[in-house]
Amino acid sequence: MKKLFLSLFFAMFSFALVWCTNNESQNVDESRLDYLVLVNKQHKLPDDWEWKLNLVEVQNAYDETIQVEKEALEKFKELREALLEEWVDIELDSVYRSVSKQQEIWDEFLEKYGEEYTKTYVAIPWFSEHHTALALDICLIKDWELIYENEDMVKEVEIFDKVHAKLADYWFILRYLEGKEDITWYWYEPWHLRYVWDVDVAKTIMNQWITLEEYLGEAENEVSDYDGVDFWESAIYSELDRQDAVDTIYGVINYDWEFPFTDVKISYMWDDFSKDNLNYCKEMSDANNLNAWDECIVFTSSFQIPKDSLVLEPDSDISDYTWYLGRAKGWEWKILTAWFN
Ligand code: DAL
Ligand code: ZN
Repeated sequence: MKKLFLSLFFAMFSFALVWCTNNESQNVDESRLDYLVLVNKQHKLPDDWEWKLNLVEVQNAYDETIQVEKEALEKFKELREALLEEWVDIELDSVYRSVSKQQEIWDEFLEKYGEEYTKTYVAIPWFSEHHTALALDICLIKDWELIYENEDMVKEVEIFDKVHAKLADYWFILRYLEGKEDITWYWYEPWHLRYVWDVDVAKTIMNQWITLEEYLGEAENEVSDYDGVDFWESAIYSELDRQDAVDTIYGVINYDWEFPFTDVKISYMWDDFSKDNLNYCKEMSDANNLNAWDECIVFTSSFQIPKDSLVLEPDSDISDYTWYLGRAKGWEWKILTAWFN
């Protein structure tokens, strides 16, 4: 009997122990920052991010007080020290940004450089990794001078090679890689470091020269083949003409609309429809002060819009979106209008 009691006691004790430990680790996990969080053109900052974040203040290269995630800053300091031994001086530029700060930057770039440039260098508010405080933009001091403009920094290949070679040892990765623009949808940014907390993860990513998207299995391929396209027959436009028009449409879907829309199906709207709309296309080209167009081509499409999208209707299936394209004979197709039928 005594034995039974003892075993029972031990069984209960072990159960309680396991229960407590599990519970504890669950609590810890819930309040813990997910250092591998993915924030990009398709993934918004998680809603519960800010309350988990431990921000600390530091002076940046311009002597402004900025905020950085606590652990990321500690590791950054170690990285900086290690680089100083190689005569490379990196300084902090911009790290944590609130949503309104990102909006300010977006507006400023838009005014200075226009939309095309802005889209490839600046994230739209809520979709910037800088909101996480784990993304660190650095600048350089070289020959006592501060190098901080994008176009000046990209020229410092040798210095950045040294910086990048050390990143993984200090649990950082490079986020926007050269040659991976079709995955990140940003131009190469040698200055934008990302703290990932885990040295093995950092080493895997940096040794294989892959993006965080690829590491997480979240790399989306752009819509580029014609699998979902129905070209039908045409007596007025060659297959190549119709493919060129579809490529122009893909440009909008993949790029302007903060890719990716999924399940994209596109269909040529037959010759008569294109002919019937020629006058409409001409009017549109006149109204937009474009060269007079004498050709018009119309496609209809269907697709799914991701839930975080900022265009059209997020989280919906679209089945009747029509594209009107026009051109002067021999020139490139331009999109005149596109809308729901
Ligand atoms: N420069 C990066 C993409 C950002 O604005 O978050
Ligand atoms: Zn950045």
